[in-house]
Amino acid sequence: MQARSLALRREGRRIGFVPTMGYLHDGHMALVRLARARSDIVVVSIFVNPTQFGPQEDLAKYPRDFERDEALCREAGTDIVFYPEAKDIYLTGHSVYVVEESLSRGLCGATRPGHFRGVATVVAKLFNIVLPDVAVFGEKDGQQLRVIRRMVRDLNFPVEIVAGPTVREPDGLAMSSRNKYLGPEERRQALCLRRALDRAEALTRDGVRETGSIRAAMQQVIAEAPLARVDYIEIVDDATLEPVKTVARPAMAALAVFVGKTRLIDNTVLRP
Ligand code: PAF
Repeated sequence: MQARSLALRREGRRIGFVPTMGYLHDGHMALVRLARARSDIVVVSIFVNPTQFGPQEDLAKYPRDFERDEALCREAGTDIVFYPEAKDIYLTGHSVYVVEESLSRGLCGATRPGHFRGVATVVAKLFNIVLPDVAVFGEKDGQQLRVIRRMVRDLNFPVEIVAGPTVREPDGLAMSSRNKYLGPEERRQALCLRRALDRAEALTRDGVRETGSIRAAMQQVIAEAPLARVDYIEIVDDATLEPVKTVARPAMAALAVFVGKTRLIDNTVLRP
């Protein structure tokens, strides 16, 4: 892959990159289209990265369907699908990691220790292998997007990071490969995440600024779904990801909720 990228770059081709863990959906396809519009060659990687999963998490059962993914990639205008094996990405004795020490502390970083170390490490490795000019990440993983931007800034990666808006099902559920785990009743109740964010947006529009009240209202919405259990609900400064008491500047309302056994995340930016 790296040899091919080097050859493409020598020919003056601009490489666009969409890193994924596979089991692709329309949200990924929208990212591929963004990459397509900004580059000559589009590379999609499919790699279920073991280092970003905790010991009790869903690494073993994470959904996989390479043939389907490859067909979707081709339809969306992908030139190269990079599909490495874990043993080729993490060589025996691998001992170097990338750790972001500020933005990755709270939110998913607090409830999934080590997660962003795994994400930053694999994205750095993929950038060094694929050598993209531009890479596209989804806004649904809002904290991940900010951690990657910080890594690119602080480690001087010559890669432009583009954010793709969250793509939703017609009823508002954010698209995610993990939605596949949901049974019919869980799928129905999973809408509580979007509803909680709608509530936060409506309160902000109505002039409510105290994040305590906004979080309480979001919690109330989640409590109305009996199969849902809050992992976290936070309102943080959009740039620093530090919790804020009032929405005085753009703030990200972010939540992670277990619906049955499936952990779902979503977020929105609240603007005063
Ligand atoms: O967002 C994802 O699918 C993953 O976290 C990523 C960026 C592909 C790294 O494994």
